[in-house]
Amino acid sequence: MNAPHVEAFLTLQEIVAAARRNLQPGPWSYLVGGAETETTVRRNRHALDSIAFRPRVLRDVSRVDTSSTFLKQKVRLPVLLAPIGGLESIVEGGAAAAARAAAQFGVPQMLSSVCQPGLEQTAAAADALRVFQLYVRGDDDWVDDWVRRARNHGFRAFCFTVDVAAYSRRERDLVGRFVKPWRATAGEGAPFQAGLSWKQVKRYKDKYPSYPLILKGIATVEDAKLAVKHGVEVVYVSNHGGRQLDHGLGSAAVLPEIVRAVKNKAEVWVDGGFMRGTDIVKALALGAKAVGIGRLAGLGLAAAGAPGLVRTLELLEDEARICLGLLGVTSYAELTPAHVTAAPAVNAPDTFSAFPLLGQ
Ligand SMILES: Cc1cc2nc3c(=O)[nH]c(=O)nc-3n(C[C@H](O)[C@H](O)[C@H](O)COP(=O)(O)O)c2cc1C
Repeated sequence: MNAPHVEAFLTLQEIVAAARRNLQPGPWSYLVGGAETETTVRRNRHALDSIAFRPRVLRDVSRVDTSSTFLKQKVRLPVLLAPIGGLESIVEGGAAAAARAAAQFGVPQMLSSVCQPGLEQTAAAADALRVFQLYVRGDDDWVDDWVRRARNHGFRAFCFTVDVAAYSRRERDLVGRFVKPWRATAGEGAPFQAGLSWKQVKRYKDKYPSYPLILKGIATVEDAKLAVKHGVEVVYVSNHGGRQLDHGLGSAAVLPEIVRAVKNKAEVWVDGGFMRGTDIVKALALGAKAVGIGRLAGLGLAAAGAPGLVRTLELLEDEARICLGLLGVTSYAELTPAHVTAAPAVNAPDTFSAFPLLGQ
């Protein structure tokens, strides 16, 4: 049961509006902002807004199943809570609050190594299905120590985020003089992240053949193919929500060619601008197995803590169920690329294009 007040949120728009009210300007800008001109952020939305559906009718959709599997475990939605560093500046309890929401609703959490209260405490906070994401700040022994801790604490897979060779210029944070407490130490060891290459991927796969590896931040067919060649289990298509390289393509725009290149030799997950049930269905129609939500999860938490995120997921689930039914399918397995087609976006590319009533 949710706290009664979150049931008063009837739409995702209301959740975003509540988050806006609750957050101070610094944390708000940190959560919603991106790199430099924020072109990549807007392209994420624009790519999704430029996909239209091709619904089929008269197909008996009296029962629609919105559940899926994640690393072979049953989950209630094909959604994962994307890693968010510094979540403790957005919601009391930080990653522990996200873990409670993930466990209560039934979706996986990917924990960031730069998020409080840390690996052990987050694992102890709730029995969520969890995977661990590392920013590399040390040598191979340092990485091995994180792998050991993650395995010991029930994280089902390990992730290197690979689109952070340099930390970007987030101009909202700079202009607002928002000081991120965790950046003081997170910057230490940054040359190790900058120095990462496929050599470390090979080393990981040789040393941990049975501990699945996710590479988060793949944005081209070329790198997706290299990931597959290295035996990586999950190609996570992402541009870090437009927070790293500016002037990239939208994730949904590169997803189809990456899915084709991977040819089922790895799972393909995706994130970047996914805010609606329809967005999730689009990704699955294009061949993604799971969709990460970053800002939307943060907004749900900021709106009303763990119950706010649970409510966000309930609304996403409701939207996904309606979308599947209206497309004439009863499960994601029946979706094909023929259920979507390219179409001009009808709204301006914007971080919040999914929520047109926000300004009203
Ligand atoms: C506030 C914030 C902090 C983030 N911190 C991390 C992080 O620590 N590690 C990481 O791999 N990605 C991080 N990301 C990126 C997300 O995991 C994800 O790729 C991105 O948010 C997806 O785009 P979306 O926010 O439009 O859903 C962060 C994103 C946000 C919004």
